[in-house]
Amino acid sequence: MKGTIRIQVNGVWRELVVGRDVEPHETLSHLLRERFGLTGLKLSCEEGACGACTVAIDGKAALSCMTLAVELDGRSVATIEGLSEDDPVIRAFAEQCEPGYGTALQCGYCTPGFVMASKALLAENPSPSESEIKEGLSGNICRCGCYSGIVRAVQYASRKGAKGGSR
Ligand code: FES
Ligand code: FES
Repeated sequence: MKGTIRIQVNGVWRELVVGRDVEPHETLSHLLRERFGLTGLKLSCEEGACGACTVAIDGKAALSCMTLAVELDGRSVATIEGLSEDDPVIRAFAEQCEPGYGTALQCGYCTPGFVMASKALLAENPSPSESEIKEGLSGNICRCGCYSGIVRAVQYASRKGAKGGSR
């Protein structure tokens, strides 16, 4: 195992000594949450089934609980903390929780994962159909059952011209 690895986290390169700053068996979710304090991503199943831990790796949605941190050497990862407050997808989810408008979030536990998955989806397909949205987000589970509001939020972000853009 190489002694030092470099990972770009939300646009900033970090140099990590393996065995000190990161363990060879450490998951990316653990590195981001426990060492970097990026607790936006959530952990639920920790076995690849729920999508709560979704981040963007080199612009593609990925499950951080199923990824070893050392695999990220030379690559970039973006978490929800890397998005600006006026990011179109963030705005779309926030606006979609207005009372009477069909909410995209209740408890919000799944929301960071859905936002990151939606960013990656819109980066690949800026104008997805309803079925393409459902298919693209099928790896993410919302236990509060906000699926129809989530689809509307993605459609809204699409109309606003969101094209991904995670660092
Ligand atoms: S916590 Fe990673 S997929 Fe559920
Ligand atoms: S809003 Fe509660 S799990 Fe999705």
